[in-house]
Amino acid sequence: MQLGRAEILSTKQPRPKITVVGAGNVGASVAQYAVEKELGDVVLVDVIEGVPQGKALDLAQAGPIHGYDSRLIGSNGYDESANSDIVVITAGLARKPGMTRDDLLFKNAEIVGSVVDQVVGRSKQAILILVTNPLDAMVQLAWKRSGWAPERVIGMAGVLDSSRFRTFIARELNVSVENVTAFVLGGHGDTMVPLPRYSTVAGIPITELLPKATIDALVQRTANGGAEIVGLLKTGSAYYAPAASTVEMVEAILKDKKKILPCAAYLNGQYGVRGLYVGVPVKLGRAGVEQVIEITLAPDEQAAFDKSAAAVRELVDKLKL
Ligand code: LAC
Repeated sequence: MQLGRAEILSTKQPRPKITVVGAGNVGASVAQYAVEKELGDVVLVDVIEGVPQGKALDLAQAGPIHGYDSRLIGSNGYDESANSDIVVITAGLARKPGMTRDDLLFKNAEIVGSVVDQVVGRSKQAILILVTNPLDAMVQLAWKRSGWAPERVIGMAGVLDSSRFRTFIARELNVSVENVTAFVLGGHGDTMVPLPRYSTVAGIPITELLPKATIDALVQRTANGGAEIVGLLKTGSAYYAPAASTVEMVEAILKDKKKILPCAAYLNGQYGVRGLYVGVPVKLGRAGVEQVIEITLAPDEQAAFDKSAAAVRELVDKLKL
C-alpha cells in the first residue's frame, strides 16, 4: 500500500471537535489535557493576537512525543470553531488576591455574553461548558443568552471542588486518591457544601474514619481551596485542577459515559430549587446533562444547600437574568 496524501485523507476518520475559548492558563491546560487523552481536535480561541496560535502550535509539536494525532488550531476569531461538539468557555478575568469570585461578576458577564453570541450560531449542536467565574451565575447567563436547552449548558465547579476535597482526605489518611470519592454540592463559592457522609475511602464514609474536627478543617480548606491558590500565585488563580476537571466532563460527554459528576446544572424543582443553576450530581453523556441525581439531604445539609443556592440567586439577580 502506498501512503500517498490522498490515501491518508480518504482514510481519515472525523474526530470530535472541541473549541476552547480563552487561551490563558486554564484554556491552554484544557487543550493540553484534551489532546493528551486524544479526545478530539482542538480549536483554541483568544482575542490576544498570536497567543492561541502559538500555544496551539506548541501543543501540536508535543504530539509526536505524547503520541496524539489530535489537530490543534489557534485563532483570534470564531469561524474555525464552527460545528464543534463541545465548546468550553474559560475567557474572563481571574481573581487577584483579596478578590472574591463575585467581584468578577459584571466584567466577566460582558465577556461571557459576547463569547456565547459568537459561538451559538456556529455550533448549533454543541454542548457548552462554562468555567469562567463567578461560575454559577456565568452558566445561568450563558444558558439564557444561548437560548439552548439547559441540558446542553453546564458549569464546571463541583468536579474541581470535590477533587480538592479528595486530595485533602487522601493526604490526611495517607491513602491513594483513587480510593477517595467525595461529593461537594451547591454554588462554587464560599457557601459550597461538601458532604462528608457521602465522601468515602474504598466505600467507607469518612465520618467513620476521621474525627469531626478534622473533617471540618478539610471541609473549610476545600471551600477556601481556590483562594488558597490565588494567595500563593498572587498573579492569578488555579488552572491545572480546574482544567483537569473540565476535561473529565468533556470526556464523559464525548464518550457518552453516563458518568455521575457534580456539575452546575439547571434545577427545575430538584432539591427545592427552581429556575436556577446550582452544583448537584448529574449524569453526563452525549446529550449533556442526562439526569439530575437527587440524593436525600439531612436537614443541616439542605439548609446549607439552600443558603448556597440563595447566594447564587443573589448574583443572578444582580445580572437581572
Ligand atoms: C478556583 C477558581 C478557578 O476555584 O474558581 O480555583
